Amino acid sequence: MLDKSTAVTAPPATVTRTESAVPRALQKYLALDDFEPVARRRIPKFLYGYISGGAETDAAMRDNRKALDEYGFVPRVLNDVSGRDQTTTLFGKTYASPFGIPPMGSSALSAYRGDIVLTKAAKAENVPMILSASSLITLEDVRAANQAAWYQAYLAGLPERIEPLVDRVAAAGYDTFVVTADVPVPPNRENNIRNGFQVPLAITPRVFWDTVTHPHWLFGTWARTMMNFGMPHFENMDAKRGPPVLAKNLMRNIGARDQLAWKHVELIRKRWKGKLVVKGLVSPADARIARESGVDGVMLSNHGGRQLDYTMSGLRTLPEIATEAKGMTIMVDGGIRRGTDVIKALALGAHFVWVGRPFLYAAIAGGEAGVQRAITLLKAEIDRNLALLGIRSISEITPDLVRKF
Ligand code: GLV
Repeated sequence: MLDKSTAVTAPPATVTRTESAVPRALQKYLALDDFEPVARRRIPKFLYGYISGGAETDAAMRDNRKALDEYGFVPRVLNDVSGRDQTTTLFGKTYASPFGIPPMGSSALSAYRGDIVLTKAAKAENVPMILSASSLITLEDVRAANQAAWYQAYLAGLPERIEPLVDRVAAAGYDTFVVTADVPVPPNRENNIRNGFQVPLAITPRVFWDTVTHPHWLFGTWARTMMNFGMPHFENMDAKRGPPVLAKNLMRNIGARDQLAWKHVELIRKRWKGKLVVKGLVSPADARIARESGVDGVMLSNHGGRQLDYTMSGLRTLPEIATEAKGMTIMVDGGIRRGTDVIKALALGAHFVWVGRPFLYAAIAGGEAGVQRAITLLKAEIDRNLALLGIRSISEITPDLVRKF
């Protein structure tokens, strides 16, 4: 909400100038949370439930916000904060900002060409983007659209399936491979069952009604995809193409995920020449094992609250893990929606953060331009917050700037 008194004392000159360059349709989005209601109206209920929901009681998802909300700032004043710079170096590459777009499954089912839209917007704004294994556009096509994209894998604990996949991702030119660690079994997401959503999708009367009552999605995403690219398939789970998204009695090949173990991470470490990241841990003990296994970075995450309910936010164990990083890159995701959230996570020891759902909502609401708008909004918040905190760069974000309420 616009506070008139601050609008008078803080000259809005730069905001006005930038706003005029923003397409009219996007000017109504003033914060990341503004994209969700528009996206929600556009897509079928089963898809909105899939994206927005967590597991069981949603306690893990709520903890992501709660953990961030427990911190306030102790800003410094009367420092010259001109010439601010939020560029951030991650694995030797310099990005425009300290945040990126993490892997999100079935993005191209939610937004037309979702993965391409997300990766192109990330490229245009110079932030990293990670392609989910559970995606519907080939990893080769995504890499062609953005040479800086990363790949995230959902692996079975079977070397004979892991090795050809690692080789395919390397052959496509990727330089960062992310192993997701928190999915030994499918989670319990009751909202998917209630809404009739399953993967692959089955056209039940409920799903049929849900789609025909959302014509924007039915024609703009589903029919357009079918016409231009044919039936979407899970392209990137394995070295070979997976099943179509719409299939009768066809189970996704997710068997043996419960056999995945650190020995497989070690096996990948030997085979994969690029950067290796493990995503989906919150335990300091696991972070230590990751480091000892030669992993380059970890993403502290409870998977957006979508796996084990009541898993603590990664933000809670972040300070402890960060003190023991010893050269390993520490990243975190979960509930980050504002520049203030990004800065809190960095102050608590993260080198980099990831922001998921809002960018997918932005892709649904506004395509590539929508995602760029969302990235720009978050960048602007970070820049403003750096100034108001009395600092000029990401490296000046220190633990003394935050305190628990
Ligand atoms: C996929 O990663 C999901 O959480 O649904």
